[in-house]
Parts: sequence; structure tokens; C-alpha cells
Amino acid sequence: MRTSLALAAYISAVLAQAPSLTDLIGSQPDLSTLGTALSSFPDLVAVLGSLSNITILAPTNSAFEALLAGDASLESTALSSNNTDAIQALLAYHVLNGTYVSSDFSETPAFAHTLLTPSGQSDSLTNVTGGQNVGLQLIGGNATIVSGELKGSNVVEADIQAANGVVVHKIDSVLTIPRNASTTLTAQSDVEVTSILSALTTANLVGTIDTIADLTIFVPNDAAFAAIASTLANASVEAITSILTYHAVAGAVVFSSDITNTTVKTVNGAELTLAVGTDGNAYIDNAKVVLPNIILSNGVAHIIDSVLNPESETPTPGNGTSTSAPVPSPTMSEFPGAAVKVQGAMGAAVVGFAVAMML
Ligand SMILES: *[C@@H]1O[C@H](CO)[C@@H](O)[C@H](O)[C@H]1NC(C)=O
Ligand SMILES: *[C@@H]1O[C@H](CO)[C@@H](O)[C@H](O)[C@H]1NC(C)=O
Ligand SMILES: *[C@@H]1O[C@H](CO)[C@@H](O)[C@H](O)[C@H]1NC(C)=O
Ligand SMILES: *[C@@H]1O[C@H](CO)[C@@H](O)[C@H](O)[C@H]1NC(C)=O
Ligand SMILES: *[C@@H]1O[C@H](CO)[C@@H](O)[C@H](O)[C@H]1NC(C)=O
Ligand SMILES: *[C@@H]1O[C@H](CO)[C@@H](O)[C@H](O)[C@H]1NC(C)=O
Ligand SMILES: *[C@@H]1O[C@H](CO)[C@@H](O)[C@H](O)[C@H]1NC(C)=O
Ligand SMILES: *[C@@H]1O[C@H](CO)[C@@H](O)[C@H](O)[C@H]1NC(C)=O
Ligand SMILES: *[C@@H]1O[C@H](CO)[C@@H](O)[C@H](O)[C@H]1NC(C)=O
Repeated sequence: MRTSLALAAYISAVLAQAPSLTDLIGSQPDLSTLGTALSSFPDLVAVLGSLSNITILAPTNSAFEALLAGDASLESTALSSNNTDAIQALLAYHVLNGTYVSSDFSETPAFAHTLLTPSGQSDSLTNVTGGQNVGLQLIGGNATIVSGELKGSNVVEADIQAANGVVVHKIDSVLTIPRNASTTLTAQSDVEVTSILSALTTANLVGTIDTIADLTIFVPNDAAFAAIASTLANASVEAITSILTYHAVAGAVVFSSDITNTTVKTVNGAELTLAVGTDGNAYIDNAKVVLPNIILSNGVAHIIDSVLNPESETPTPGNGTSTSAPVPSPTMSEFPGAAVKVQGAMGAAVVGFAVAMML
């Protein structure tokens, strides 16, 4: 009697324990595609099994079906061609370093590092120290994971507990691995933002912007470039370089949730003024952030409504009483120090830019 009671207590204790991650996924019929994909990667499964306090974003079977039925993409091609490096990277992007439960999601986006980390190889899919990010946000009442190209995946079943403090959320679409700036801005359909790519090409900066580690770039929309088109038309490459490098911060991936009233040093060498206006919008010098937090392979882009002027002395962030920030209409005479600034940036050993500019 005593023995069987002890045994019963033991059995119920075991049953009360959360299952291993593999057993959990194996027990969910709508995660069988993920289970099969993981079974091809015993090393990855072993690593996941050894980690505690991680969050698994588990695409359902219908999420994988929709991916394979849709347009060809890096993700669908990885799966259909059994490209094991790319599949492993995709799976790693679905694992968050940390425990994030549904109550952690709010209408203000938060960002979490994943296990998709820089490989050190030239074809690495990310150059974000600590792991590529995803956004976690309540959108229309749904807990949503925001990945590359602002794609949103809805959490359809949240907070499933596995052993070691591992949390699993089922999601209704496969995450999109963030691409480089040129690919992402070209694909962006919510706003027109390709003018900056012509300017970057003129300044021979595309390769740098697409690869430099831990980038925050403020991207003026096409209307902003159009507003100063006549000025830019005759600008020297040095002046354009000075303006563009003033839009980039290297070594810090700054999301909207990180923006406070502060200054930040740009690749140009000059400092940008960041502010949160009384209207709740983020302002960069005089420009308003109109579309924040587009995750890139190497950082983040924020779309702004005017071209920033590195020679502007006194930025006046808007306070919500005007519908758009003032558009600077600089003439080239307002950029007298442009060439000097470029020298300064190189002198400051901003290695990536210096190398790109010497090519
Ligand atoms: C996991 O999270 C728990 C609770 O926050 C914490 O006590 C524990 O130290 C964490 N373990 C690791 C390995 O980070
Ligand atoms: C995919 O490739 C891996 C490693 O080369 C192999 O073990 C696995 O069987 C392949 N899967 C399919 C479906 O071909
Ligand atoms: C998770 O993040 C911590 C620091 O925040 C880091 O020490 C650890 O190596 C990361 N784990 C993985 C698996 O990347
Ligand atoms: C919320 O998620 C459900 C389930 O995926 C989806 O059908 C619905 O359209 C989502 N709502 C919004 C506002 O995204
Ligand atoms: C940017 O990404 C595209 C698409 O993956 C790729 O073809 C291009 O080479 C990348 N650019 C750089 C500079 O790495
Ligand atoms: C990552 O960033 C470093 C430093 O900016 C750069 O040298 C390297 O080429 C980048 N790697 C990739 C894969 O883009
Ligand atoms: C640009 O320079 C050319 C040649 O010097 C001149 O004819 C033209 O008017 C200039 N355009 C503008 C917008 O200043
Ligand atoms: C931040 O700066 C804006 C614009 O200058 C100002 O309206 C706001 O009050 C400042 N916020 C704080 C917390 O200082
Ligand atoms: C701030 O608001 C006042 C009116 O309340 C307005 O006169 C001023 O121009 C505004 N400043 C900016 C930078 O929008």
C-alpha cells in the first residue's frame, strides 16, 4: 500500500513536469512538419535541448503549406531544395533567447534577439551582434511576431510550456529572415523609399550599407528626396556622401522603443538629435519617423519624412502641432564643410566606410 502510494505520487510528479521540447512538438499534430524538419538536424535539436529560458516560435503545418504554395522566397527555396544551411538559419530565427510569454506583448513593439547569429562567413544571413531580432507586438488584439519586410505572424496558440523554462507559441506563418537594405527597401510597398538607393549608388555606399554590422539607418522617403532634388542634382559626390553618412549609425541597432531625447554620433562624425515629441512620434533632427522598425539583415531602418542636413545648427523636433516636420531645403552653400566631414569620418577610422570609399 505504502509502496503503491509512493509510486502514484512519483508518477503524478513526473506527469506534472513539462515535457521535453521534442516530446512537446511530437505531441502536437499541427506541428508535425516542424517536427520532421527538426529531425533532420540532430545537432540543432541537441543544442535546443540544452538551453533553458528560450522561446520557440513554431509555425503550424498550414504555415509551412502556405509558404511552399506562395511566391518563391529565400525561405520557400530553402525548404523545397533542402538547403540545409538555410533551413538551419531559418529554424534558428524562430528561437528567441529569453522567455517571452503572451502577457509580454503590448501595443508598443518590443524586440528580442533570436539564435540566428552572424556566422562570420561572407554569406552570413545576419550581421547583428547578439542575434537577429524579431518584434513582439499586439496588433489588432493579436500577439504578433514582426519579422523581415514588416511581415507579421499571428500567435495562434500561446504559452505552451516545455521543460527547462522553454515556452512555445504556435504561429500562423513562417517568419521572414530580414534581408539587406537594398533588397528590403526595393520590396517595401507601404512607402516609396528607393531614391536613397540611387544616392547610395552615386556615393558608392550600397555595399557598405548592406553589410556593415549593427546599423541603424534613417531613410528619407522618396518625397523627401524629391523636395531637395534640385539641390542634389548638382551636388558633389563628397557632399552626397556627407549627407548619406549623416543618416547612418554604426554599432548600435536602435529601435523606436529605444529612442529617447538624446544625441547619437553618425558615421559622418556629426551628431543627430533624437527626440520623442509630445505627439508620441519619434523625431530625428527636424524629420519625423513615419514608418519605424524595418528589420534589416544588419540592423534596422526607420523611414523619415525629410532629408537630414548635417549642417543644420539647431534642430527643432516637432511637437505634434504640425502635420509634418519642416523640410530643410538646403543649398549647397549650406554644406561648406561636407568634404571636410568625409575626411573626418575616415580619420575617425570608421573602417567599413573607409574601405568602401577606397574601392
Ligand atoms: C531562467 O529564468 C529563471 C526565471 O527568470 C531564472 O531564475 C534562471 O536563472 C534562468 N536561467 C538561466 C540559465 O538563465
Ligand atoms: C536533406 O538533407 C539532409 C542532409 O544532407 C538529409 O539528411 C535529408 O535526408 C534531406 N532531406 C530530404 C527531404 O531530402
Ligand atoms: C543569450 O543571451 C545571453 C546574454 O543576454 C548570452 O550570454 C547567451 O550566450 C545567449 N544565448 C544564446 C544561445 O545565444
Ligand atoms: C488575428 O489572428 C487571427 C488568427 O491568425 C487572424 O485570423 C486575424 O486576421 C488576426 N487579426 C488581425 C487584426 O491581424
Ligand atoms: C543584398 O541582398 C541581395 C539579395 O539577397 C543580394 O543579391 C545582394 O548581393 C546583397 N547585397 C550585398 C551588398 O551584399
Ligand atoms: C559584418 O560587419 C563587418 C563589420 O562592419 C564587415 O566587415 C563584414 O563584412 C560584415 N559581414 C557580412 C556577412 O556582411
Ligand atoms: C547644374 O549645373 C549645370 C551646369 O553647371 C547648370 O546648367 C544647371 O542650371 C545646374 N542646375 C541646378 C538645379 O542648379
Ligand atoms: C523631448 O523633446 C521634445 C521635443 O523637443 C519635447 O517636446 C519633450 O518634452 C522632451 N521630452 C522629455 C522627456 O524631455
Ligand atoms: C510647437 O507648438 C507651437 C504651438 O503650440 C508652435 O508655435 C510651434 O511652432 C511648434 N513647434 C514645432 C517645432 O512644431
